Amino acid sequence: MYNIFSQMDDEQDEERIISRKHLTEDRDESGTRPKSLVEFAGQSRIKDNLHVYIEAALERGDALDHVLLYGPPGLGKTTLAGIIANELGVQMRITSGPAIERQGELAAILTNLEEHDVLFIDEIHRLNHTVEEILYPAMEDFALDIMIGKGPAARSIRLDLPPFTLIGATTRAGLLTSPLRDRFGMIHRLELYSDGEIVQILQRNASMLSIGINRDGLEILSGRCRGTPRVAIRLLRRMRDFAQVRGSGVIDREICSVGLKALEIDERGLDSTDRRIMLAMAEIYNGGPVGLDTLAATTGEDPGTIEDVYEPYLLQIGFIAKTPRGRMLTDQGFYHLGMEPVTRLAGNSALEAQLALRDLEQEQSEQGESEQESIEQN
Ligand SMILES: Nc1ncnc2c1ncn2[C@@H]1O[C@H](COP(=O)(O)OP(=O)(O)O)[C@@H](O)[C@H]1O
Ligand SMILES: [Mg+2]
Repeated sequence: MYNIFSQMDDEQDEERIISRKHLTEDRDESGTRPKSLVEFAGQSRIKDNLHVYIEAALERGDALDHVLLYGPPGLGKTTLAGIIANELGVQMRITSGPAIERQGELAAILTNLEEHDVLFIDEIHRLNHTVEEILYPAMEDFALDIMIGKGPAARSIRLDLPPFTLIGATTRAGLLTSPLRDRFGMIHRLELYSDGEIVQILQRNASMLSIGINRDGLEILSGRCRGTPRVAIRLLRRMRDFAQVRGSGVIDREICSVGLKALEIDERGLDSTDRRIMLAMAEIYNGGPVGLDTLAATTGEDPGTIEDVYEPYLLQIGFIAKTPRGRMLTDQGFYHLGMEPVTRLAGNSALEAQLALRDLEQEQSEQGESEQESIEQN
């Protein structure tokens, strides 16, 4: 039931081993996807909640409330949707925002649902607005409003739909319209995983794929995957190749060091693109603040990709910080690049005055942007 997703690879990202989006080599990831909440590592708050709501829905014989899952790519949104359907014992229909172009296409999907089925819409923030309007009555009243005829003779008829559960996944909850967001009973944000949780995921995949890896190997890889299961699993497979060709077949410290070096992944799990972004911030913008679009233009990356793929981890490890004035490289970030932090100059009062002035000016002009961000935080 998951295979459809292998066709949703994002090509622009394909060169990047560390990318959290789907790469072609993740095609067979469906085989090791956890199928139940117990097998799903981490995210315990979400699992606890889901467990209660799923049990309650099953006891009452109702459809589960609509669920919105959001967070950076590769953290388990699709997996979790599959698990919810499994735990409910129902079928899951899979589609995605950009795949549905016309109202009629969504109407056809909805009328084909069976009672209590799960409809999974990936990248739900990319649904177009006319299609989205069909979803409102569908989610709220399990009804489909259809227009018949044209001009003055046109009338609308209402069709009943079976009660169903919509699961939406998005990397950007902030881009959802509020009428759509408000119709979800549960909104869950997936967090980056701890090293310990990643070790569990690595062990599970290693044993399912018969890959030999020792304790050192597990520890090293868990620290290099940016808290992202998809990256961890991809690194595991790559290291297996190195172990096979260069070593005894077991992934150990030496294999990791050779393999990760070959992939240009440093000791914090950053690759050359991360370092390029950080270097631009350091060298061109003196550590920032720099706006997302400016940074994107300078580095030749897409702003959305920086925001979804690169930034969450750099923020999490404290190498960059988000301020109302834009992104800044932190002292830690400078040290990681082997550079002296520019903020050392903060003793310089001229610079301080300049920064304060810029603060004032930009605070007003960027209020809109920070409001958008606060929505995303929620
Ligand atoms: N909590 C988890 N436990 C075990 N494996 C996970 C977990 N989260 C993600 N994975 C694995 O990571 C990969 C990416 O997960 P996926 O659900 O496709 O992420 P997303 O839809 O958020 O981009 C899959 O191979 C999945 O099996
Ligand atoms: Mg997905």
